[in-house]
Amino acid sequence: MGTPVIRIRRTSPCNVSDFIHIPVLLREALEAMRVRPGGQWVDGTCGGGGHCEAILEATVPGGFLWACDQDGDAVEATRTRLGRFSGRFEVRRMNFEGLSGWLKAGSVDGVLLDLGTSSHQLDTPARGFSFQTEGPLDMRMDTRGGITAADIINGWAPDELADAFYRLGDEPDSRRIARAIVEERRARPFGTTVQLADCVERVCPRRGRRTHPATRVFQVLRMLVNRERAVLEAGLRAAWGVLAGGGRLAVITFHSGEDRMVKDFLREEARDYDVPPGQPDVPELRVERRPRARLITRRPILPGTAELEVNPRARSAQLRVAEKRED
Ligand SMILES: C[S@@+](CC[C@H](N)C(=O)[O-])C[C@H]1O[C@@H](n2cnc3c(N)ncnc32)[C@H](O)[C@@H]1O
Repeated sequence: MGTPVIRIRRTSPCNVSDFIHIPVLLREALEAMRVRPGGQWVDGTCGGGGHCEAILEATVPGGFLWACDQDGDAVEATRTRLGRFSGRFEVRRMNFEGLSGWLKAGSVDGVLLDLGTSSHQLDTPARGFSFQTEGPLDMRMDTRGGITAADIINGWAPDELADAFYRLGDEPDSRRIARAIVEERRARPFGTTVQLADCVERVCPRRGRRTHPATRVFQVLRMLVNRERAVLEAGLRAAWGVLAGGGRLAVITFHSGEDRMVKDFLREEARDYDVPPGQPDVPELRVERRPRARLITRRPILPGTAELEVNPRARSAQLRVAEKRED
């Protein structure tokens, strides 16, 4: 055996009053959404409540915020943080794909979705999001149900694992990693984050790379456990549906695949034609219509160097914003 491949940092279990998450692209998001006094606003991923707090400060007097998160710790932390704005907000534990069942269609002035994981989730070993600390292989943002990362790693067939690592994570060693996982679980089912990170690192040694070899595998597991692709697709439609004409949708992503989905969705709303369902987008099949959106950001807004110095976790963030057209 060589030296241990992972530095295990053991921390005490989560305490919601210590919920730490530095909001990303805060000024840029609020400006691009034109957050202003009064109005009805939505934060569909409230996390530690950083963006929520700034929205409530900027909407005095009379603004109201509807906030949600599927993570119970986030909801509790946001409620506590926003206490001084009592009567001007409501926080609910739910998935943002359900926004249209909560809020009236066409009723709000701006919706923010700040996707990905919170620092609190990453830094709480018991949640199982990080390969840097030992914890159960869980990764559920909503811990009330659903499958865990361990269910996938211990239960999926080798081809299913390899396809997922390749398709969702662009992992070039997907087959070798899947084979190693299946071999190891025969002897000892996977129980912890560190066991999985070690297994991946044995197949793909670090060899001077800056990121840990298990980064992509962990990201893919998180996406699968939380059904992130399907939820984002439904969530973008739901968020768009609750916006009033002239309202703006702002989405912060941390992954190129997610950013592509947001870009494609907003571009489709902004174009001036439809294509019959199931048909290719070729000029002769296009049916003219009024655009439903105006793109506020043609290219995504990225964090500046000042923000990255304070918060390196913002490094892959990208913000896109569009305005819904009046009918
Ligand atoms: C990057 S953090 C948000 C941080 C927040 N803007 C702040 O200022 O503290 C992302 C949050 O989104 C939540 N989340 C991710 N997907 C979600 C979904 N589909 N529905 C509801 N919440 C979701 C996560 O649980 C996490 O708390």
